[in-house]
Amino acid sequence: MAATDQVRLLVVEDVPQVGQYIRSLLNSQQQIKLLDVMSDGSKVASQIAQLRPDVVIVDALLQGRVKGPTLIAQLHAARAGVPVIALTVPQKPIEPDPEQGIHAVLSMPFSGYDLISRIHAVQATFQETQAAGNARIITVFAPKGGVGTTTVALNLAVAFSQAGRRTALIDASLQFGDLRALLKVPMTAPSIVDLPTDRIAETDLSDVLWRDPSGIDILLAPPRVEQHEMITVRDLDKILSLMRRVYDIIVVDTMVGLDERTVALLDAADTIIEIVTFDSTTIHNTLVMADTFRSLGYPPTKVRYLVNRADSSGGIPEQDLAAAIGRIPEHQVVSDGRLVVQSNNEGVPFVLAEPSARISQDIVTVVNQLMALDRPAVAARS
Ligand SMILES: Nc1ncnc2c1ncn2[C@@H]1O[C@H](COP(=O)(O)OP(=O)(O)OP(=O)(O)O)[C@@H](O)[C@H]1O
Ligand SMILES: [Mg+2]
Repeated sequence: MAATDQVRLLVVEDVPQVGQYIRSLLNSQQQIKLLDVMSDGSKVASQIAQLRPDVVIVDALLQGRVKGPTLIAQLHAARAGVPVIALTVPQKPIEPDPEQGIHAVLSMPFSGYDLISRIHAVQATFQETQAAGNARIITVFAPKGGVGTTTVALNLAVAFSQAGRRTALIDASLQFGDLRALLKVPMTAPSIVDLPTDRIAETDLSDVLWRDPSGIDILLAPPRVEQHEMITVRDLDKILSLMRRVYDIIVVDTMVGLDERTVALLDAADTIIEIVTFDSTTIHNTLVMADTFRSLGYPPTKVRYLVNRADSSGGIPEQDLAAAIGRIPEHQVVSDGRLVVQSNNEGVPFVLAEPSARISQDIVTVVNQLMALDRPAVAARS
């Protein structure tokens, strides 16, 4: 088995004989890497941040300043992002309860087989629940630059938050992220490159996300252009699977082109909002994209078209756009040069700066239409 497939284990045990017994059981195998046996419960949280174990075993009878049950509760409350196996004795039975941070139980005496199979099982189950998550991922994409992808993504995210959804926005314009400048975020604010490269935990994410006054949390793009290369598809997958557990809605602002990372963000999307405008290059590129999406195996319902600046047709008949797309675009947002420029200059998304403006109401309508997709029965009746 490759070293990277090893399960990284941290043990919290203050009885030296038990610690030694676990060490000896794991000595002659490669599947599980024992990182440390710690006896002081008060140091465990910081060690988890540093060592990044996949599984932690905590002796439920741990003594000292932080006792076993307290430690388990603390790790749970801190969303340590790692499953815990409680170690106990038959006289003090414990039931597994993932809601309370006890993902599995191991009772003494146990064999090497018991130990290793319990570790594998708990890790597999934990990974599955992580991957499932709840959030809906909405990836905003355009087949051409400068058509309003960032403007729409930001205001959609804020409108979702205004509708009571816990919302995050990922600036995946990895090379030339605009959100930092748009929202007047200091250059020193951390970005996606500040996340650890190997094992990202939920606590790392919460340290790095920018909590914007508009009510959304933003994962900023790197501050420097060349840093985008540090972000891999694997990082993005991991980030999304963690964020899915924390948020109701994740809006992703993408860059133009089918960079493999952008494809990963399109793959992961529950809904792709493709921004189109009335101009001949967009229409041409939209056709090309529709083919690409088909070859990527996306069902037609995954992609929803949003016509930005829908009232500025520039002489192109509406039917031409519909013919290119093969359907009437699902969403429309009007043009409002004055308000968009003003809100960009002030760093306040226009849905907050002027909620009664037509453009803001259009965004809210898009959000309501997207939320209605979650309630098919209701939508069908209305
Ligand atoms: N509905 C709109 N009404 C008026 N101006 C708009 C509208 N949408 C976008 N804009 C303006 O169009 C310009 C491009 O917008 P934005 O940066 O959102 O596009 P983008 O597609 O993300 O661009 P890039 O390809 O550079 O990432 C900005 O100046 C923005 O203020
Ligand atoms: Mg942009």
